[in-house]
Amino acid sequence: MSIHKFGTDIIALLYALVKAVQVYDLNNAVVQTAAKKIVYSLKTLLNIYSRVQLVRYMDYVFFNKQRLRFEIDGYASLQFIHDKLKTLGIKSLSFLPGIDQEEMIIFASLFKKKKEEFTNGYSSSGFKRILVEFSTEEDEVPDFLREGERIKRTYFKALKVTRNLMQNLWMNQPIDVKSSRRIIYNLIDSLTQDEFGLLTLTAIKNLDDYTYNHSLNVGILALALGQRIGLSKKSLAKLGSAGILHDIGKVALPRELIYKSERLTNEEWELLKKHSDYGIKEIVKARGLDETGLISMTIAYQHHWNYNGSGYPIHNKNESPILFSRIVRICDSYDAMTTPRMYQVVPYLPHFALRVMWKLRNVWFDPLLTKVFIQLLGLYPIGSCLELDNGEIALVIRQNQGYSDQPIVKIILDKDGKKVAGKVIDLSMNSGIKVIKPIYAQKYGINPATYFM
Ligand SMILES: [Fe+2]
Ligand SMILES: [Fe+2]
Repeated sequence: MSIHKFGTDIIALLYALVKAVQVYDLNNAVVQTAAKKIVYSLKTLLNIYSRVQLVRYMDYVFFNKQRLRFEIDGYASLQFIHDKLKTLGIKSLSFLPGIDQEEMIIFASLFKKKKEEFTNGYSSSGFKRILVEFSTEEDEVPDFLREGERIKRTYFKALKVTRNLMQNLWMNQPIDVKSSRRIIYNLIDSLTQDEFGLLTLTAIKNLDDYTYNHSLNVGILALALGQRIGLSKKSLAKLGSAGILHDIGKVALPRELIYKSERLTNEEWELLKKHSDYGIKEIVKARGLDETGLISMTIAYQHHWNYNGSGYPIHNKNESPILFSRIVRICDSYDAMTTPRMYQVVPYLPHFALRVMWKLRNVWFDPLLTKVFIQLLGLYPIGSCLELDNGEIALVIRQNQGYSDQPIVKIILDKDGKKVAGKVIDLSMNSGIKVIKPIYAQKYGINPATYFM
C-alpha cells in the first residue's frame, strides 16, 4: 500500500472516531469500535514507521511528509480533519508506539472543544503516545517543503525539453525521447510534493514563446487535474506527455501562420484547425507507436472536440472524446483564455475564465471534470491580482482548501498605491480583510511574474 493510501485511511478512521464521540457516549459500542479500528491501523503502521505524524501547513495536510491530496474519495474527511487542525491551532499530531484505545478516545473527545479548552485539556490529560505541536503566529515552513527552488528548476528544465522537442520537429531533427520521458516523472514528483508550486509557474505567462509555454502549462494543468481525480502515476505519465504534445501538429503548419499578429482570415483558421490531424504524424516522429504515443495521438486529434459532440475535426456526434481528451480540452481552454496572445492582447482574468468555463460545462466541457478543475484552481486562482477592502492590492500566492474566496495573498501595493515588499496574509485566518474584486495587474504597472520568481 502506498504512503498516500495509509494517510487517507488514517484520516478516514480519525474522522469516524471524532464524529462518533460527538454523537455518542464514550462507552458506546460505536465509539469503541471506531477507536479499535484506528488503533489497530496505527499499530500496524508503527511496526513500519517510528511515528505516525500528521502535519498541517497552510492549506495542506501531510502524512509522514507526504502531502495528502484532496480527492473525490475521502474529500470530506480530509477537509474535516484539516479544518479541525486549523481551528484548534494544531501544527502537528504524532502517534507513538504503545498507543491504546483509551488514550485515543479521550484525545478524540477533545476535538469537540474550542481552541482554548482543547489546549488546556491536552496539557492536563498527560498524553504519552499522542504528541501535539501547536502552531505559532508565523509558522516555519517544514523542512521538507523548502522546495521552491527545485520546483523552478524542474519547470524550466521542462520548458527547455518542450522547446527542443518542438524545434527539432520543426526542423526535422532527431528527437530526444528519453529526456522527455524523464522530465514528466520530475513534474509528477514535484506535483505530489507541492501541487501549487508548479501551478504558480503556469500562472506566469509568456516565459517563453507562447507555443512552448502553452504546451507545458497544459501538460502541468492536466497532471494536476489528473492527480485530483486519483489517476495512478503510470496514467499520469501518459496524460502529462499527451498534454504537452496536444498542439504538436502546429509544427507542420507555416510559421507565419502561427506567429501572425493580425486577425486570421477564414482560410487561415481552417488551416490552423488542421493541427489536430497533423498532430498524429508528428507524434509518430516524436514518440513512436508505444502506448503513450497512441494515447497522445488520440488526444491531439480530439482536443478540440466538445462535450456535446461539436468541435473539430468534424466527427460523429455520438462518438465521445476519451477521458484524457476531456481533461486536456479543459486545461487547454483555460490556459489559452488567460494568456495574452497576438490576437488577444487582453486575456480573461483567471476567475472570469473559470466562470465562462462553468457556463460552458455540458456544452464544451465535461461537467464533473470542470467542477474538479475549478475546485483545484479556487475562486481566485494563483496569480490573480485582488483589490482588498482596506485599499491594498494583493497577489494570490496560494489557495486555501475549503475557503476558496479567502486565499493566501501577498500585499504588493499599499493604501496609497505605493509598491511594498509584500507581507503574506492568509485571508481565511480572521484577517478581517475582504476581497472586493479581482483586477488586471497591468493597470497598476505590476508584473506578477516578478513576485513569483
Ligand atoms: Fe489545439
Ligand atoms: Fe492548445
